Amino acid sequence: MTPEDAVSESDSAVSAVKLPANLMEVGAVVEGGKPISSGRELPRVIAVANQKGGVGKTTTAVNLSACLAELGYRTLVIDLDPQGNASTGLGIDPRALDVSMYDVLLQDLPLEDCVEGTAVKNLFIAPASLDLAGAEIELVPAFSRELKLRTAINSVKDDYDFVLIDCPPSLGLLTVNALAAATEVLVPIQCEYYALEGLGQLIRNVDLVQRSLNPALEVSAIVLVMYDARTKLADQVAMNVREHFGEKVCRQVVPRTVRLSEAPSFGQPIIIFDPSSRGAIAYRQLAKEVSGGTPQRVG
Ligand SMILES: Nc1ncnc2c1ncn2[C@@H]1O[C@H](COP(=O)(O)OP(=O)(O)OP(=O)(O)O)[C@@H](O)[C@H]1O
Ligand SMILES: [Mg+2]
Repeated sequence: MTPEDAVSESDSAVSAVKLPANLMEVGAVVEGGKPISSGRELPRVIAVANQKGGVGKTTTAVNLSACLAELGYRTLVIDLDPQGNASTGLGIDPRALDVSMYDVLLQDLPLEDCVEGTAVKNLFIAPASLDLAGAEIELVPAFSRELKLRTAINSVKDDYDFVLIDCPPSLGLLTVNALAAATEVLVPIQCEYYALEGLGQLIRNVDLVQRSLNPALEVSAIVLVMYDARTKLADQVAMNVREHFGEKVCRQVVPRTVRLSEAPSFGQPIIIFDPSSRGAIAYRQLAKEVSGGTPQRVG
């Protein structure tokens, strides 16, 4: 086989990439609603969700929040994942916490009592610790178990312009709490074919929560992350997702860069770790796109 043959063969394989059939069915659910930034009232509560693991939820929640804070928006990240990655990524050691989101959900601790500041002005974190893993089970017999987070957020909502909830990689009670508390869902997806698996299920769940618990809920944004410009597959997946989900897909894509994966081990968002890196530039642009770009409040 000549190199030319190899190229044309891989090209034809790529052009055959299609969205999974179940996504074709659910496209209609996502359509409609407002574009991501237009005329949305503050405060905005956004669940960053995708039950698939390792797709960039935490990286997006942490860095988008940091960039929103940099724009002047008071922003709270709620870490709803027992892995505590958003907490670690913002410089908090989940093992050294006296109180965390576990106490807010299970012990009725006021949310404001577990909020901590970060190295970024205007950016705050409500951290998670490992005991949150037990919450999935311990919440089961609780009264209004799906609405614990909504009640907690309502008590602090007016202190913030944006509240971003970093969801765990499951569709369990923690994620249901996030969907019941949010008005928007932001779904990060990797620019890889298998990254689309399960998206239909997520969107059906959003639809279910919207009907039963939270009429205001909508998928407001799909963000293409870990985009590798060198692969045609990434381009093809991005193109198909845009064709299918239209306006909901943010124009700004987030590139795959090593710096973005290094930042959490230093407990820093990318705008502090490497402010001029491609990842920092991408998340800054994304924050402008998501917010409409106008700082509402400075200080
Ligand atoms: N744009 C990117 N470029 C390079 N690496 C990235 C990028 N985004 C995320 N990563 C890395 O990919 C891994 C998974 O990302 P992340 O933790 O954000 O995903 P997640 O969806 O929150 O995972 P989980 O489902 O376990 O909570 C991490 O090691 C992260 O540093
Ligand atoms: Mg995560």
